[in-house]
Amino acid sequence: MNFEIKPMALAQAAKEKCDALIVLVSQDFKAGKDELSGLVAQALKSADLESKAGKLLTLYRAPQSHAVRVVLAATGDGTARSVRTAVLAAVAAAKSASLKKMVLCFAMPAREDAVRAAVLAAADATYAYTLTKSQPEPRTVQKIILTASNASELQTAFDRAVATVSGVELAKEWANRPANHATPTLLAQAAQELAEVPKFSCEVLGPKEVAELGMGAFMAVAQGSEQALRFVVLRYSGAAKSHAPTVLVGKGITFDSGGISLKPAPEMDEMKFDMSGAASVLGVFRALALLKPAINVVGLIPACENLPSGRAVKPGDVVTSMSGQTIEVLNTDAEGRMILCDALTYAERFKPRAVIDIATLTGACMIALGGVRSGLFSTHDALATALLEAGELSQDACWRMPLDEEYAEGLKTSFADVANVAGRAGGAITAAKFLQRFAEKYAWAHLDIAGTAWKTGTSKGASGRPVGLLVEYLVQQAHAK
Ligand code: BES
Ligand code: MN
Ligand code: ZN
Repeated sequence: MNFEIKPMALAQAAKEKCDALIVLVSQDFKAGKDELSGLVAQALKSADLESKAGKLLTLYRAPQSHAVRVVLAATGDGTARSVRTAVLAAVAAAKSASLKKMVLCFAMPAREDAVRAAVLAAADATYAYTLTKSQPEPRTVQKIILTASNASELQTAFDRAVATVSGVELAKEWANRPANHATPTLLAQAAQELAEVPKFSCEVLGPKEVAELGMGAFMAVAQGSEQALRFVVLRYSGAAKSHAPTVLVGKGITFDSGGISLKPAPEMDEMKFDMSGAASVLGVFRALALLKPAINVVGLIPACENLPSGRAVKPGDVVTSMSGQTIEVLNTDAEGRMILCDALTYAERFKPRAVIDIATLTGACMIALGGVRSGLFSTHDALATALLEAGELSQDACWRMPLDEEYAEGLKTSFADVANVAGRAGGAITAAKFLQRFAEKYAWAHLDIAGTAWKTGTSKGASGRPVGLLVEYLVQQAHAK
């Protein structure tokens, strides 16, 4: 989809040729001299358009506008959240088979966060998954023009939002693909294609190279599957070599059956989303290609399936991780931490400024925080604060969770250095405590996105989170140095 921003007030925007004009009206709206804004003021005054965010009033062939449909959408207090609510509702109301070009007009000067929210919500509301449908219904909207009288002040925020959308949609696409259309090999190919531009490179390791590195934990998870594992190393070099990179590590379990500790059948299909962390890393790299910030970033993706078979790892098996620490596999369904721990050890070689892993790691995190905020774990206060702020700014929020040493008690075992699971209590935290053992050599943060990476129910599908949070964090890093 194509986005553009133009400096126009409402009267001018109404003269743009388009299929639908959406007018975003905040509670502090003041009418100009033109007819349409007079109409808007009247609608507000009479409460035919209520000012609460998401309330709509639709006009058909209004003489004041070139568009067939005009949707007046209240944005209430005008905050990013309200704008998101309004745009989602308005686009849903304006949607039709013939909707190709849409104008989204801020009737009052817009703030940066409102512009970002509008772009992301408009993209969300028009996204369509098509890959595995025989009669696909692709997205009809091809062009969205944003207008605001103060557009010139908003260009940077707008560009960042458009790049973020591109990343979010790549992440959605890969996370939504069924596991037979998103194997470790295909995921690695997608990474390679992303890197076919200047300043990017991609290296893909297979079973032989991974064995040579001694990634015994990662290999143990992969050994039950006929699909060969892949370890992806993506690099973006936007700054001098001397500039320490940020490393992103994405969990790439392309299907999680649980392995020998098999999951129950209901909803097992949802475990195709278990590579959402990896998909978010791909999404971030696409956004980096568009924004080209002056930083260095490494993306690491351990990718494999977790399946039961005669060759699969068994409960009680002890394996040796790349770090040298031995791990007792008490539950083969706690596989995410096993593939991540070797990637975290691999990350040391980059002498990173920070390492952030992103994983659909625990059902417990979904229970704790639901689908609203991702779980954030970090031993490093400055890093945690920066990620929390990036989450708020990008409407892709997270919530910091504790890492007290007492939570690691349950991981003790007589048969190895560490067990891969503790009891049920505090499951998201004990998983993070396991990872922490492998991330002691740098500033580290862990994002548990089990609850936020996809939506269940009728709108079932990937959310593209936390691409927005990560892009915001990285761009801030570029400005901070
Ligand atoms: N991929 C799952 C976590 C998950 C579960 C994400 C449900 C989203 C929805 C992970 O590999 C897993 O199976 N975790 C186990 C850990 C347990 C065995 C300690 C879990 O959460 O049940
Ligand atoms: Mn699992
Ligand atoms: Zn998993």
